[in-house]
Amino acid sequence: MIIRNADVVLKDGVKKLDVRIENGIIAELGEGLKGEGIDCTGLTVFPGLIDMHVHLREPGFEKKEDIASGSAAAVKGGFTQICCMPNTRPVTDNKVVVSYILSRAKEVGLCKVRPIGAITEGQEGKNLAAIGAMKAAGAVAISEDGRSVANSNLMANAMMYAADFGLKCLCHCEDASLVDGGVVNEGYYSTLTGLKGSIRAAEDIMIAREICLAESLSLPVHICHVSTYSGVQLIREAKARGVQVTAETCPHYFTLTDEAIASFDTNTKVNPPLREEKDRLAILEGLRDGTLDCIVTDHAPHHFDDKNVEYNLAAFGISGLETSFALSYTQLVKGGVLTLPELARKMSANPAAVLGLQGGEIALCAPADLTIVDLNEEWTIDPNDFVSKGKNTPFAGRSVFGRVKYTIVDGEVKYREERA
Ligand code: DOR
Ligand code: ZN
Ligand code: ZN
Repeated sequence: MIIRNADVVLKDGVKKLDVRIENGIIAELGEGLKGEGIDCTGLTVFPGLIDMHVHLREPGFEKKEDIASGSAAAVKGGFTQICCMPNTRPVTDNKVVVSYILSRAKEVGLCKVRPIGAITEGQEGKNLAAIGAMKAAGAVAISEDGRSVANSNLMANAMMYAADFGLKCLCHCEDASLVDGGVVNEGYYSTLTGLKGSIRAAEDIMIAREICLAESLSLPVHICHVSTYSGVQLIREAKARGVQVTAETCPHYFTLTDEAIASFDTNTKVNPPLREEKDRLAILEGLRDGTLDCIVTDHAPHHFDDKNVEYNLAAFGISGLETSFALSYTQLVKGGVLTLPELARKMSANPAAVLGLQGGEIALCAPADLTIVDLNEEWTIDPNDFVSKGKNTPFAGRSVFGRVKYTIVDGEVKYREERA
């Protein structure tokens, strides 16, 4: 199959090229290639997008999402590979759940699904999970996402064990004693709404601790969903002195501020919370200067009933797979923060590098994982169009640029936009 006449996003530039796919591999890049294929005039080809932080909810919370609906949302959003967090029921803390997720994802057969194992048994923060066994079964990282490991000694041990198995710890940074029931950022809008706030330090203290552990132990660590200006600064300084720290943020942290909570729309409730303009600007700068390596969705689908309650009682999270690319392209590339190759790195090559996954680049002999988009198409986000079971988005009605037309995994078209 030939992908013809597309603007191809390569490592350091965009080139008009044809791409020949053979046996699931990129076999040739050139001009005027002959053979059957897809005419992509006016379209742009990215290396298959990789989301290293999603919640698929299966097993246990299939009312919110399952591996089939989450995979469908992923390919519709342009993702060829996704990594799923372990806060399932049962928790993904053993090889049986890891194997289950892999076999179910294979049956579904849309995108590549890479399970992330828990750090502790049951995510209870007491005993380390069976990290080696999970790695052998196919886990690509460990994380306690949804919370932090409160006990620092246990976390240090987790980092050492993980490193022995060639896995990274992905750290959700939250000091529970400081959050203390807070549901939004503490500031003007928490006062205005009367909603209980939590301060930046609740996130920053844990970012600082993970950096301290990584530095002391000379081990790598990855910081999840950075939301504070001060967290960006901690990571920037740590990188400057050689600490092996990488970090991610999400579209909602560089697009929205806590002004959005004034609506009391529970779709704005997310953990960590939406912060202030100075945080949003610092996150843009962190993406620009390389402090923040990856853009992830933290796709956190919830059932309507989990959100259709008072703000204090609503579940935390945003359904992000179907809006991430367009929000990122609109905010970052149209906004002049990143070039197209830089955006491709944040959404594909860097997540692959952090986790040691295949993919991330359009190059000869690489797997033919490709995302083909129309960058000029403007569309309006409508959660009723989501194929994810989670319709929970604070972006309903927002106009964005960049529409996914085809998602190709190992040379097979797994998503193709239906023309109205
Ligand atoms: O908003 C969030 N939702 N943050 C998390 O850390 C967990 C996630 C979820 O699982 O719903
Ligand atoms: Zn988290
Ligand atoms: Zn998460």
